[in-house]
Amino acid sequence: MNNLLTKLQELTTELNICPGQVNTIAHNFRQTMLDGLRGKHSPLQMLPSYLHTPSQNEIGTFLTLDFGGTNVRVLLTELLGQGKFIIHAHVSKRLKDTNAHYNYISNQSTADQLFDFIATQIGTVIKPNTNYSLGHTFSFATHQTGLNTGTFVHWTKEIETTGMKGQDINQLLAAALERQHITTVVPAAIINDTVGALLAASYMEQTTDIGSICGTGHNTAYLEPHSPLTNEPMIINMESGNFNQLPFTLYDAELDRASEKPGKQRLEKMVSGHYIGELVRIIACSFFDVGLLDSSPDKKIMETPYLLNGAHLSLFHEDLTVDLSLITDCLENNLHITGSSLDDRKALKTIATLICTRSARLVAATYIGILKHIDPSLKNCHNIAIDGSLYEKMPGYGEEIQKTLTKALGEKGTMVTTSLIKDGSGIGAAIATAIAENMEI
Ligand code: BGC
Repeated sequence: MNNLLTKLQELTTELNICPGQVNTIAHNFRQTMLDGLRGKHSPLQMLPSYLHTPSQNEIGTFLTLDFGGTNVRVLLTELLGQGKFIIHAHVSKRLKDTNAHYNYISNQSTADQLFDFIATQIGTVIKPNTNYSLGHTFSFATHQTGLNTGTFVHWTKEIETTGMKGQDINQLLAAALERQHITTVVPAAIINDTVGALLAASYMEQTTDIGSICGTGHNTAYLEPHSPLTNEPMIINMESGNFNQLPFTLYDAELDRASEKPGKQRLEKMVSGHYIGELVRIIACSFFDVGLLDSSPDKKIMETPYLLNGAHLSLFHEDLTVDLSLITDCLENNLHITGSSLDDRKALKTIATLICTRSARLVAATYIGILKHIDPSLKNCHNIAIDGSLYEKMPGYGEEIQKTLTKALGEKGTMVTTSLIKDGSGIGAAIATAIAENMEI
C-alpha cells in the first residue's frame, strides 16, 4: 500500500467519533451546561434571552435586522399568527466587498462605521412617514439584561471591528440611526440567531425547544425549564461554540494556534463552515510529504490560509463522477491548482468527507447533552430546528446528525426530530419584537 493510502487510513481513525465518544461528549456537555447555569466556571456562557417560546398568536409588521458577520440583512416581516408570515421587503448587503473597496469587519473599521453602514441599509427599506419597531438578530455573544439591552461580549468567526467592547448593541444602532437622520425606527428587541431559529420554528411547530446554527459559525439555544434568573422557562443562548472537552487532533491544534483567538471557540473551530475548509487545507498540506499533489506545479497555492471554504467541501464531498471531474474543475478554475492526479482528488474527497462527518457527529453529541438535561427519560417530543449553510447545503450532513441521535438515543430516538428553519433570524426577530410590544402594554 502506498504512503498516501496508509496516512488516509490513519486519518480515518483519528477523525472518527465513535458512539462511545458521542456519549462521553454528550455527558460532559450536559455537565458544563449545569456548571454554567449554576454560575460556576464553564466554557458555556448560558446567556439569558428574556424570552419564552411564542404563543403562536404574535401578529404585526416589524422591521428586522440580521447581522451575522458575512452579510447584513434587513427584512420587513408581517406575522399573521399560527406560524404564518409574509416577508414584504428584503435587502441584503455584504459587510466586506473587495470590489467595492470596503470591509466593515476588519480591524481597520470602527463600531460607528459598521453601524452607520447598517443604518444606511435600513434606510433603503423603510417608507417615509411610517414608524417601525425593529427586532435585531445579532449573531455574537451578547450579555443581555433585558429583551432590548445587550452588551457586546466578544467577536467570533474572525471578525475584528474595533470599539465594540462593553457597548450596548442596540444603543450603537440607535445612535447610528440618529446620525443617518432615521427617526422612525426604534430598536425594540435583540436576540441571538440561535434564539431566532428557535422562536421561528416554534412559531410553526410547538415541539421545538432547541434552535441551532450550523453555518459559518456554530451555536445552540434551548428552552431551559428553570432559568436561574426567574426559575421559570426561558430560552438560553449557550454560546456552545466555545465548548472545549473534545477529542482534538494536531490539525485542530494547528488551526487554533493560527486563529484570531487561540483557545477560544474550540467546538466552533471543529465544526463550523468558517473553519472546516481550513481544517481540510491544513490536513492536505500535511499530506504533501506522502505525495499529495506531487504532480501539481501549483501545490504551493494549497498553503494559502483559508483557501478552502464550506462550498468547496460540499463539492468535494458530492462529486460522484468516475474521474472526480467536478473536483478537477474546482481545483483548476476556482483554486488555480492544475495537474492533480486521481489519487490526489480521491484523497481530498476523503479528507473533506471525514471532516464533515466528524462535524455532524460532534454537533449531534451536544444536542444529546441538551436533551438529557431537559428531559432525561425522553418523555416528550422535541424538535431541533437548525439553520445555516452546512445543515442546508452540505450533502449528508443532516442525515448524519439524525443517524447519530438515533444511534445514541435508541428507541427513544423517535421522540426527537430535526428540521431546517430558513430565515429563522428574520422571523425570530419579528416574533421577539411582537413579544416586546406586548410586554409594554
Ligand atoms: C457566535 C454565536 C452565533 C454563532 C452562529 C458564533 O460564532 O458566537 O453567537 O450564534 O456563531 O452564527
